[in-house]
Amino acid sequence: MASFLLPPQPVASLDEYFERGGGAGLSRAQDLGPDGTIDELVRAGLRGRGGAGFPTGRKWSSVAGQRGTHHYAVCNAAEGEPGTFKDRALLRANPYQLVEGLMIAGLVVGATEAFIALKASFGREIDRVTAAVAEMQEAGICRDCPVTIVRGPDEYLFGEEKALLEVIEGGAPLPRLLPPHEHGLFATAPQLGWEAKDTEPGHGGRHESNPTLVNNVETLSNVTHILARGADWFRGMGTRDSPGNVVATVVGDVVAPDVGEVELGTPLRAVIDAVGSGLLPDRRVKAVFSVANPVIAADQLDVPVTYEDFAAIGSGMGAAGFIVFDDTACMVEVARQFSRFLYVESCGQCPACKRGSGEITGRLERLEAGAGTMADVDEIRSWLDKVTDGNRCYLAVEEQVVVASIVNAFADEFAEHIKFDRCPRPRPVVLPKLVDLAAGRATYDTDHVRKRPDWTYEPATAT
Ligand SMILES: Cc1cc2nc3c(=O)[nH]c(=O)nc-3n(C[C@H](O)[C@H](O)[C@H](O)COP(=O)(O)O)c2cc1C
Ligand code: SF4
Repeated sequence: MASFLLPPQPVASLDEYFERGGGAGLSRAQDLGPDGTIDELVRAGLRGRGGAGFPTGRKWSSVAGQRGTHHYAVCNAAEGEPGTFKDRALLRANPYQLVEGLMIAGLVVGATEAFIALKASFGREIDRVTAAVAEMQEAGICRDCPVTIVRGPDEYLFGEEKALLEVIEGGAPLPRLLPPHEHGLFATAPQLGWEAKDTEPGHGGRHESNPTLVNNVETLSNVTHILARGADWFRGMGTRDSPGNVVATVVGDVVAPDVGEVELGTPLRAVIDAVGSGLLPDRRVKAVFSVANPVIAADQLDVPVTYEDFAAIGSGMGAAGFIVFDDTACMVEVARQFSRFLYVESCGQCPACKRGSGEITGRLERLEAGAGTMADVDEIRSWLDKVTDGNRCYLAVEEQVVVASIVNAFADEFAEHIKFDRCPRPRPVVLPKLVDLAAGRATYDTDHVRKRPDWTYEPATAT
């Protein structure tokens, strides 16, 4: 299987990018025009690689067709999900294909401006993409649609598309109510039909919804190749419902955590071996997570990595960031770590999300410490039912599905903690929020354990 997204050697300059065939996607999109380009994407069957797998052609058609005087195109390069590093790997290897894809998106939705939003802490990737945009601007490629690089905060919610727009506008990463195609960048008001309040000054007597397209780095990188080589070429890889390749991250209890491009439809077990170099000797897989979806158990490892096959086993492929736990890991501790992460990162705009994830985390802490009872497990189940009440974004659903799946699949481990009043598998478990990943070595964010639920940090203690 040939990789086309992650070249073996990074693309060093725009000249080199052109030598390798770069630029053909945008030319073809200019020839096809917006409708023809959307048709090509629909025929290709590309699905968004940011986590939800939404059909890209359909999304572009809906933003392009939305009324509004201004449209915008945004690349989501916030990558904050534990266990994922693929967007940073793509930005390091070839930022040009992403910028070209963003230019195609801008052309199709009629964007007056485009944005690439990354965490301010992604220094290396910011340098790469800033240089690529400058070179492409110089070469006249980004002239019709200026590109602005936005440096955002480290919060997980920054990557949520409604929060991403708030950050681009200069605000905090708090998800707004309506999706970007209905309430886009710099919109003066959401278009909810009848409006009781006065229009804002300077907007010609009407509200502006500014429909905005938000796509992930990998999605936009794929667009460039699909336009250059055609939908049929793309459909030659993967399955009918999940065509193409995917850039997978494999971390956790594996020999050499890494990022690699694999064909969709490859069994999960083979992806763990090919990308993560398999497990340590004498270890077996106990659980795999593609954050933030229900757990994949040891007897499900032959599932093909596709949207439809993961859905069929009651999980989700997410952004193809696979966190592997072997048979020495404690699943109560794994549940505690996931729950705490989501509790801390929850913004609190929806009371059930912040309070519920906090209650669940507290009870998981008691159970892991050997101080819990069955009443704690019952309370966890009860809060899991309510944690999504009135949710503005999907984070609350992540808490619900991840924790519920662990409580259900590993009920025996919860019972053991209660029976023995201690953890029977005491070993460190790391929630792999990645800071760097290269040459089989993963660097995890060690500060998150000090992050408080109000997004401040406990002072670091001297060691
Ligand atoms: C809490 C949360 C965090 C997210 N973080 C990211 C992220 O870092 N990068 C990303 O592309 N999508 C992220 N998403 C998904 C985006 O909201 C959005 O669906 C995606 O950018 C759409 O792009 P796509 O259609 O190309 O997949 C996140 C969603 C949630 C609920
Ligand atoms: S669901 Fe949770 S994280 Fe999302 S907006 Fe509401 S409180 Fe914030």
